[in-house]
Amino acid sequence: MQHEQRSSLPQPDAASAAQSARVAEFLRQIIAAEGGKISFAEYMHQVLYAPGLGYYSAGTTKFGDAGDFITAPETSSVFGHVLARQCAAVLAAVEKPSILEFGAGSGKLAADILKMLAEMDALPNSYRILEVSADLRERQESFLESEIPQLMDRVSWLDRLPDEHSGVIVANEVLDAMPVERFIRRRDGIAQVCVAVKDGSFVPAERVAPDNLAAAVTVIEEELGRSLPEGYESEVCIAAPQWVGDVARMLSRGVAFLFDYGVSRHEYYAAERSGGWLRCHFRHHVHNDPLILPGIQDISAWVDFSAAATAAVAGGLDVAGFVNQAQFLIGGGLDQALADLSELPIDAQLKLSGQVKLLTLPGEMGENFKCLGLSRGAITRPSAFGLADRTTSL
Ligand SMILES: C[S@@+](CC[C@H](N)C(=O)[O-])C[C@H]1O[C@@H](n2cnc3c(N)ncnc32)[C@H](O)[C@@H]1O
Repeated sequence: MQHEQRSSLPQPDAASAAQSARVAEFLRQIIAAEGGKISFAEYMHQVLYAPGLGYYSAGTTKFGDAGDFITAPETSSVFGHVLARQCAAVLAAVEKPSILEFGAGSGKLAADILKMLAEMDALPNSYRILEVSADLRERQESFLESEIPQLMDRVSWLDRLPDEHSGVIVANEVLDAMPVERFIRRRDGIAQVCVAVKDGSFVPAERVAPDNLAAAVTVIEEELGRSLPEGYESEVCIAAPQWVGDVARMLSRGVAFLFDYGVSRHEYYAAERSGGWLRCHFRHHVHNDPLILPGIQDISAWVDFSAAATAAVAGGLDVAGFVNQAQFLIGGGLDQALADLSELPIDAQLKLSGQVKLLTLPGEMGENFKCLGLSRGAITRPSAFGLADRTTSL
């Protein structure tokens, strides 16, 4: 999707504008208390997750037609049905099988997976959800209670990572929602991109990068085998490899399926990609200005999948596969999932075929969205990774 100009974005309604004004005032206070600037990562963290205020923490509609963007599980139940088949094979191979979903959004994916596993008589002992937003957690609970009341005894919410997990881990569009640092390669070192206030609005600023950011950029340059050009600007997500490390510590046996839009490190920091990979969504319009509409637009960044895979391997996991979403769905049994639905009336079949196109076409979600599979233990490789695995590109 093309990025749009700020002038072509829709105007927020009065309630959203008032909410954004509250978030902006909160941020101006934080920035003043911090001496006039905060890191971009801190800004992104606050606008997305400040309790009761941030985009994911306040009670706005985010997903689906009435929200700002649509994710794969919201696009079609087919996504969850194919994933459920992949889960079934893993669950059958472990003792005490459980599914742990991170950032469950509206709860749609959990409902689709559990319904399909119930049909297959392959339910896990438990389906655990770890969600950082209290508001979304409440919405997930009421959605799942209405959708799958008969399965609620297996569903629970966690407040923190469990010590141990065996079975399946699922995270769809969670890594892209983690705050990223922005940096600029200067001749004499690395600058950290910050956010300051000018005439009441948020503006970019910079300062010398702290040690952890400078070290992260050094690792990138070492792995690329070259220095980034002077003036080159991009992002690095310091939280993502730490999170993958936590997943590795906890997964005793099974497979983690991490879906997101992203690329390998090589592509991420290609010379022509100066400017980075931020992507903001407001009312289904995509643009790349994170400093406007604070608290009422989504801000995300494409994922450096090489960084995630490296952290996983360092934590003792194996890479089970790396494929794009179309390959995952086709390799994972899309044809079977669709065959189950062939009895539907013709208008429903047409609707479904439109949804499948959205999930699989290269210009839609088929190519930019990828799935990284991580595993521990002698688990048969999920079939979804059997078609055109690109692990060696990481
Ligand atoms: C873009 S939404 C995706 C929602 C859902 N998975 C879907 O596909 O529709 C990102 C979700 O990740 C959650 N999230 C972000 N960071 C997280 C973390 N560290 N642990 C768990 N959830 C997180 C957000 O609160 C939100 O529910």
